[in-house]
Amino acid sequence: MSSVIITGGTGLVGTALTRLLVMQGYSVVILSRDPASHRSRSPSTSYAAWNIREQSINEDAIGQAKHIIHLAGAGVVDRSWTDKRKKEIQDSRIKSSELLVKALTQIPNQVESVVSASAIGWYSESRGVQSVETDPPDPGFLGETCRLWEQGIEPVISLGKRLVILRSGIALSNEGGAFPEFKKPVRLGIASVLGNGRQIVSWIHIDDLCRLYLEAMINPHWSGIYNAVAPQPVTNKTLMMELGNKMKRNFYIAVPIPGFLLRLLLGERSIEVLKSSNVSCEKIRKQNFQFIYPTLDAALRDLLHR
Ligand SMILES: NC(=O)c1ccc[n+]([C@@H]2O[C@H](COP(=O)([O-])OP(=O)(O)OC[C@H]3O[C@@H](n4cnc5c(N)ncnc54)[C@H](OP(=O)(O)O)[C@@H]3O)[C@@H](O)[C@H]2O)c1
Repeated sequence: MSSVIITGGTGLVGTALTRLLVMQGYSVVILSRDPASHRSRSPSTSYAAWNIREQSINEDAIGQAKHIIHLAGAGVVDRSWTDKRKKEIQDSRIKSSELLVKALTQIPNQVESVVSASAIGWYSESRGVQSVETDPPDPGFLGETCRLWEQGIEPVISLGKRLVILRSGIALSNEGGAFPEFKKPVRLGIASVLGNGRQIVSWIHIDDLCRLYLEAMINPHWSGIYNAVAPQPVTNKTLMMELGNKMKRNFYIAVPIPGFLLRLLLGERSIEVLKSSNVSCEKIRKQNFQFIYPTLDAALRDLLHR
């Protein structure tokens, strides 16, 4: 049974991915800052410790792993972007990447592939023309964070590991992240359209995202950077209206929440909901990745009936 390490595997993506990997016969070791607070749900899953500040890591886990999936990082939208929080958002990704590189350099191991999360926050605002993997990073905080995150994990290539970086769009899942927040007002009959609603949202169904991580991990033909988004980005307004139609059979009203109010409430973080991100999935399609949920209609039908 091949062993896979998932850093930050206690989070939204890691929990779903662990389920998929265990189903596929892998044993999963989740690296967590607080492994004792988690109880294993299957004999194939265990928790091990790492400490990014002290740059320490469970050596047995590294010694036994065949693949590493690097998901760890402090939540980007959970709290206000104070200088302290911005530093935490960056350090949790960059210093953790550096710790993995150090561990793979110093601890004898048979790791073949490293798959690291990144985000479409890499890209500048995009509407008509889709962002592609070769585009330069946005100079703002998120773009710079993604650049340093990707740069931090890159040295694993010179250690002979195959590196895949997945720049993920918004993962749609009932278990957490943005989607439950989108649903809350709709339940009350209100589809809250953010700003003018014309900003494009590049999303991906959580199951497709997990299948992408699996494919990137096992398929030797994958290497480098790929956008992890569905083929059909939609405007924020379309997303909210589709949700309203499906949840309330048209018995809802669309309420715009003005951009200035969002900027007032969220401060700099408002960029996460107001920025238009039209991101291309052409590169993963060329790798023959088949989406189970290529359209918003298919994704919502599934998520709302689970
Ligand atoms: N979900 C999305 O829509 C989305 C979109 C684009 C990119 N991504 C990226 O994909 C990765 C996984 O996403 P996710 O939604 O699963 O994230 P998540 O639910 O927030 O989980 C991330 C995990 O990282 C660990 N973590 C949190 N703060 C940390 C810190 N200060 N230092 C070190 N580790 C810390 C936590 O594990 P422990 O508490 O066990 O240590 C947490 O469970 C993240 O890096 C995220 O930025 C996600």
